[in-house]
Amino acid sequence: MSARTVLVCGVGLMGHGIAQVMAQAGHVVRAYEPERSRAEAGVDRIRGNLERSVAKGRLGAGESAGILERITICGSVEEGAAGIDLAVEAVFEDEDVKRDLFARLDAAAPEAAILATNTSSISITRIAGAARPERRPRVVGMHFFSPVPVMPLIELIRGDETSDATEAQIRDIADELGKKVIVSRDRPGFIVNRILMPFLAESMRAYEEGLGTAEDIDTGARIGLNHPMGPLELADFIGLDVCLSIMKVLHEGLDQPHFAPPRVLTDLVEAGHLGQKTGRGFHSYPRDAS
Ligand code: CAA
Repeated sequence: MSARTVLVCGVGLMGHGIAQVMAQAGHVVRAYEPERSRAEAGVDRIRGNLERSVAKGRLGAGESAGILERITICGSVEEGAAGIDLAVEAVFEDEDVKRDLFARLDAAAPEAAILATNTSSISITRIAGAARPERRPRVVGMHFFSPVPVMPLIELIRGDETSDATEAQIRDIADELGKKVIVSRDRPGFIVNRILMPFLAESMRAYEEGLGTAEDIDTGARIGLNHPMGPLELADFIGLDVCLSIMKVLHEGLDQPHFAPPRVLTDLVEAGHLGQKTGRGFHSYPRDAS
């Protein structure tokens, strides 16, 4: 494996995990957030994950220190993109924000660099359209799953102009990360969210109509289907705002009623109850429970 220089834009829930696994695979990682304090919070989360791995005896203290040394915070997209081999964008699901970022990355990154997006539902072709035509063969979807250090899958999405060489490089990187690749066409929600979101939405509608309690719906999936998490706790874990935005993309793009976001989801998001990250969603997550 040759060490690459990787810029990760957005080091929140997904991005910090992407930065961690890239550094664990030996790559040199730059972390970018518009606010430095958020970038520091992302690196703190990585440090916490690594400390847990050291405590469990899965990682040596020296290895952990080496991984952290390979991660630096950069002050701007332009500074971060200088000399990179790969950028992975993991900012929130807003097409305009992503397109703006891709235009800046395209202008600042070397010609050979691959620009990947971790979008969970937005069209890769439309995001690639923010870059110059000569870059578009090197724009690709590289969709990770949360928690990134644990979930061994990457969904690879080719836009209309993504090249075979780009797909081959993403496959090589996924191999280095120990992740299995599946390839999806560039359609709303790709493969996994196309399957997952109707399941989460139907569980929410069942809850809304009082079919069962949140606990019983989740227990039904955990014990009856052997899922690691029930659908309502999984939605809380992903983030209810994230689920809502993915369901909207699916509903608008595929125009089928079963993709419509349930009322209860919209109400919770409007009330600021976004799941685990705000302490309340379909379930409550007391902040000082430990
Ligand atoms: N970061 C890093 N590691 C974590 C972690 C995190 N946030 N959470 C858990 N882990 C690790 C633990 O350290 C532990 O590692 P070891 O076994 O090596 O000690 C391992 O994961 C298992 O953790 P726990 O024993 O604490 O808990 P668990 O057995 O209940 O597993 C879980 C936790 C892995 C999150 C499991 O509940 C699970 O698989 N849930 C479903 C997750 C899922 O479906 N993710 C996909 C969401 S969809 C998505 O991400 C895409 C999208 O576009 C919306």
